[in-house]
Amino acid sequence: MMVISAVWLAAFLWTASAPTPQDRAGNPRQGGADQVRAGTLLFQARCAECHGADAKGVVGPDLTVLWTSAAGPASPVGVSDDRVFRAIRAGVPGSVMPPSTAPDDELWAIVAYLRSLGTTTVGSVTGNTDHGQELFWSTCGSCHRVNGRGGQLGPDLSRIADRQSRDALTRAIRDASASIAAGYQAVTLVTTDGTRIRGVGKGEDAFSIQIMNTRERLQGYLKASLREVVHETRSLMPDFGPDRLNDRDLEDLVGFLGTLRAAPARR
Ligand code: HEC
Ligand code: HEC
Repeated sequence: MMVISAVWLAAFLWTASAPTPQDRAGNPRQGGADQVRAGTLLFQARCAECHGADAKGVVGPDLTVLWTSAAGPASPVGVSDDRVFRAIRAGVPGSVMPPSTAPDDELWAIVAYLRSLGTTTVGSVTGNTDHGQELFWSTCGSCHRVNGRGGQLGPDLSRIADRQSRDALTRAIRDASASIAAGYQAVTLVTTDGTRIRGVGKGEDAFSIQIMNTRERLQGYLKASLREVVHETRSLMPDFGPDRLNDRDLEDLVGFLGTLRAAPARR
């Protein structure tokens, strides 16, 4: 396990500059209330647009669980602080997460702020993830793919925890139509003989429309051959209210989804 995590760390740090003495020591003024306060302000100004005012994730991932999910309880805390510091310094290549040229002090303040969030949410990573995984394959896997297995009507969820916070996941399950994932809008096509075909819209221009129907077949239609094209505001994903999924099961399921991260963090 130690070997694996060392290799992973090396891979993660490939973009970072040579360590300074400060890096090795971890956060030089860790945890001080002033530092956390400064970090809070810096975070609101520079990071909240993507990670949310509460750091629970919008475009960027939930940062309140960094110390619990990515480093793991066995990991020495200093390494973890460094890792977060370096992620902020270097950005994430190939994503919209930008690098930062701000002074070390400012970045450490942000790290201290994020860490203060992480410690207050320790213990919130709950749920029986094994049971959650079973529930996933019995209830969700027909429409969603995870690591190459499952259906394709809905988005691939292999890295969903990098994109969505636990709160957002809970909402997506309880109330699927409240926000519809881009590229997965439901449409109903009515042919001239009155047949109705449901699916998710995959492309459309003035003359034609492509959909993936509920049997996962991609189909194209000329609009001239259709009586009507209905763009629906409801999701193709059913709502899983408490009658279909009780709170306990929901927690297990979200717990499982919370493990679906980019390979390095999942280990
Ligand atoms: C333009 C949007 C954007 C801004 C601004 C932004 N981030 Fe990010 N951030 C992202 C995205 C997207 C990712 C996920 C990248 C990936 O893994 O594909 C990310 C990833 C991260 C990670 C790595 C999480 C992990 O699990 O390894 C950290 C830490 C982070 N951001 C902190 C910050 C901090 C602190 C700031 C402000 C200084 C900031 N980000 C500003 C979009 C942003
Ligand atoms: C009948 C097919 C179907 C089933 C069953 C289904 N989903 Fe979905 N799901 C979809 C579709 C289509 C979307 C995209 C539209 C939307 O965002 O509502 C979606 C969206 C999502 C999203 C948002 C993804 C993103 O990238 O924003 C999550 C999370 C999700 N589903 C989780 C689940 C879970 C968990 C279950 C099982 C309890 C489940 N789904 C069952 C079809 C389905």
